[in-house]
Amino acid sequence: MRWAWRRRRADAAGLPRRGAERARVPGAVRGAEPLPGGGVVRFARSSLRVRVAAGGAVFCGWDGAEPEPSYALAGPVPEADERAVLEPDTDGGWRVVSERVLVVVGRHGTVEVRTPGGVVLRRDLPPRWWEPVDPAAREAVEARWTQRSEVAADARFFGLGGRAVGPRLRDGAYRLWNTDPGGAFEPGDDPLYITMPVQLVVADAGTHLAFHDNTWDGRVTLREGEEGAGSGHDRPGSCEVRMDGGPLRSWVMVGTPARVLHTWATLTGAPALPPAWALGPQHARWGFGSEREVRRVVTGYRERGLPLSVVHLDIDHYQGHRVFTVDRERFPDLPGLAAELRGQGVRLVSIVDPAVKARPGVAEYDSGAAAGAFVRDARGREVRGEVWPGECVFPDFTDPGVRKWWGGLYAERLAQGFSGVWHDMNEPVSFAAFGDPTLPRSARHSLEGRGGDHRAAHNVYGLTMARAGYEGLRELRPQERPFLFSRSGWAGMQRYGGTWSGDVATGWPGLRASLALVLGLGLCGVPYSGPDVGGFTGHPSPELFLRWFQLGAYLPLFRTHAAHDAGRREPWEFGAEVLEHAGAALRERTRLLPYFVTLAHLAQRTGAPYVRPVWWRSPEDRALRDCEDAFLLGDSLLVAPVLEQGTDRRAVRLPRGRWYDTATGQAHEGPGQVLLDAPLSRIPVLARAGSVVPVAGADGQVELEVWPPAAGRTGGGVLVPDTGEGWAPPSVVRFTTRLRDGVVVVEREGAEGVGYPVRVRGAETGAGD
Ligand code: GLC
Repeated sequence: MRWAWRRRRADAAGLPRRGAERARVPGAVRGAEPLPGGGVVRFARSSLRVRVAAGGAVFCGWDGAEPEPSYALAGPVPEADERAVLEPDTDGGWRVVSERVLVVVGRHGTVEVRTPGGVVLRRDLPPRWWEPVDPAAREAVEARWTQRSEVAADARFFGLGGRAVGPRLRDGAYRLWNTDPGGAFEPGDDPLYITMPVQLVVADAGTHLAFHDNTWDGRVTLREGEEGAGSGHDRPGSCEVRMDGGPLRSWVMVGTPARVLHTWATLTGAPALPPAWALGPQHARWGFGSEREVRRVVTGYRERGLPLSVVHLDIDHYQGHRVFTVDRERFPDLPGLAAELRGQGVRLVSIVDPAVKARPGVAEYDSGAAAGAFVRDARGREVRGEVWPGECVFPDFTDPGVRKWWGGLYAERLAQGFSGVWHDMNEPVSFAAFGDPTLPRSARHSLEGRGGDHRAAHNVYGLTMARAGYEGLRELRPQERPFLFSRSGWAGMQRYGGTWSGDVATGWPGLRASLALVLGLGLCGVPYSGPDVGGFTGHPSPELFLRWFQLGAYLPLFRTHAAHDAGRREPWEFGAEVLEHAGAALRERTRLLPYFVTLAHLAQRTGAPYVRPVWWRSPEDRALRDCEDAFLLGDSLLVAPVLEQGTDRRAVRLPRGRWYDTATGQAHEGPGQVLLDAPLSRIPVLARAGSVVPVAGADGQVELEVWPPAAGRTGGGVLVPDTGEGWAPPSVVRFTTRLRDGVVVVEREGAEGVGYPVRVRGAETGAGD
C-alpha cells in the first residue's frame, strides 16, 4: 500500500502537466530535397525523412527524427542505399525508388511501402500529434501521436513481443508497456513481460515487418481486413499505433519471412549463441531450499537414466532474498556443489533480480549508493520500492557507468560456480497493492546521458540490464560465451540472450499460450525461449504435465519450473507411465542436440528462429497462416504438439511437399490436412522429404538422419558442428540429397565423402546405410 501511494504522489508532483492540447497533422506538401537513400519531404507542419538502407530496410522519421539514438539498433545505422532516388510523383507527392522497395509519399503525408512491382504492402496514413497549446508547455511535454496504417485485406498480424494470445494476433488493442501480470498469467492477460512495437504482417502480396522505434508506453490496435466486404470491395486490415511520447519513426522491411527476419537481425543484432549445454534438458524450482534437495533431484534424474543438463537456483538460495548472496546455512558450499554437479554433466544457473535491498551495510547497496547507481525521483531522492528482500532500490541500467558497476558484481556468481544467469523481475517490478507494479513514471533515468524519465526508460529496463549482465560476464570470463536469459526485454534483446514464458498458469490454456509466446517472440527476432514446463502454479494432471513436457522437448529452452507452493515437476512424480514417456522425450531431445546446435548457429547467422510458424516457407498458403497448433523446428521438422486434453489423434496441416511421420515412416503429401496418431507416448513429428537432420548417435557422435526426397526432387540440410563454449568461428557443412534409381544419394558440398554416418529413414526405402 505504502509504495503504491508513494508512486501516485511522486507522479502527481513529478510529471509535467499537459494542459489544453491541440492536434497537428503534417499538412500539404511543400517540397523535397534528396539525401542519401532518399530524402526529406517537407510539409506545412512537419517533415519526413525517408531513407532506404542498403539491405532494403526503409526508415521513416517525422519531425526530424533520425535512426539514432536507438536502444534497438545493434551498431551503426546501416548505410544508405546510394542508388535509391527521390523523384516527384504524379499526384504532387514524392517517391523513393530502389531495387528492393518503392516508397511513395502522398501530398498530405501518406506513406506507402510497395514492392518494386508497385503492389502496396503497407499504407501509413498521415500521422497526428497532440501537443500543448501553450508554447512553453510544448517545450516540457512530449507530443503524443497516432499513426494508422492499412494492410491487405487478407493480411495476418504477428509479433508485438511475447503475447499469450498469439501467435496470430486477433482484432484488439495491445499495450506496449512491459508488465508483470502478478501471480500467473492466462491467455487473456495482456500485456506481459516483453512488449515490442514490432509487427510482422503476412499477406498474399508479401511479408513485411514494421518497427516503431519508440520505447514509450503505447497501444497498438489491430483489425484484420475482410475480403469482399461491403458490395464486394475488400476492407483493408488496419493497425493504429498510439504513443504517449517519443519520436515518430519506423523501419519497414519487406521480402520473404526469412529475408525479413534476416534484415531485422542485421538491424538489431545477431542472436547470442547459447552454449550447447543450454540446449539440453533443464530443471528449475522456486524452493529447492537446500543443497541436499538439489542433490536429491539430480540423483533422481541420474538413477532413472534421465538426461539433465542444467539446474537453476531461484531466490530461495539467496540470503534474505538479496541478490548476489548465498544462504550459507542451507547452501554451505555452493562452489563445491557446482563442481560436483559439473562432474556429472550438470551446470548451475542462477537467478539475478535487479532490485537491491535498501539498507546500509548491504554491500551492493553501499557500493551502488556511493556510485549514484540507483534510480532517483524528480527531487533527487532514491526511488524506493518493495520486492522480495523488502524495501529496495533499482539500478539505473540506462547509465553506462551503472551497467559497468553491475556487470562487475557477476564475479560473485561466477565464484559460486554458476555457469549462467536468469534475469527476473526486471520489468522492473515493485509490488503494489494497486496501480502499476513498477517505478513511478516520473522517476529519473540517465538514458545514456541524455536524461529522461521512466516513461521512456521503462520498456528498456530489462534490455539494458541484459546488456549489463552480458557485458559483465564477457569481461569477467572472456573465453566463454555468456549464457543469459531475461524475463523482460525489448527489441534487440536477442543480442544478449533469450527469455522464457514467465509465470504461465498451469492449465491447458497455459500450455497453448506457451507455444504462442515462443512463436511470437521468434518473429520479433528473439529465437531462444521456452515455457515453465508443467506451468508455474498448482498441480498439473499427469496428462497435462506430459503434453507440456513433450512440447517443451522441441522448444529451444526446455526447462521445468514452478513456484514454491506449486506441486513437484520431476518427471517421476506423475506415475510410471508419465515417467516412461517423459524419459522418451528427454532422450529424443538429447538425440536432437546436434540439430538444436545447428539451429542456434543458423539463428545467429540468419536471424531465423529455431521455432517457426508452419507458413514460414509458404506464407501464401492462407490455411497455414491461421494454423496455431503446430510449428516448424528448423527447415526439416514439423512438430504437432497435443494441446488438448484426452486426445490420441490430431489433425495436422501440412505445408506443400512430402512429409514423413517420423514415428511410422509413412509419407504424406502436402498441402493439406492429415489425421495422425498422438498416443500418450508421443506427439506427431514429421520430417520434410529430402531433409538431412544431424542427430547424436548411440556413442554421442553426430550422425545424419536422411529422409528420402520425393521422386524427381532434391533436398538437403546443414550441420554446424558444436564449436564449444568459446568464440571459435563455426564451420557450416552442407549436404544435398537426391534419388538415383530409387536409392538415396547424400553428398557433402565441396568434399569427397559425407564424413558422417548416414541413416536413411522412411518406410518406402526402409532403414539402411
Ligand atoms: C518470478 C519469476 C519466477 C520465479 C519467482 C521467484 O515470479 O517469474 O520464475 O520463480 O519470481 O523468484
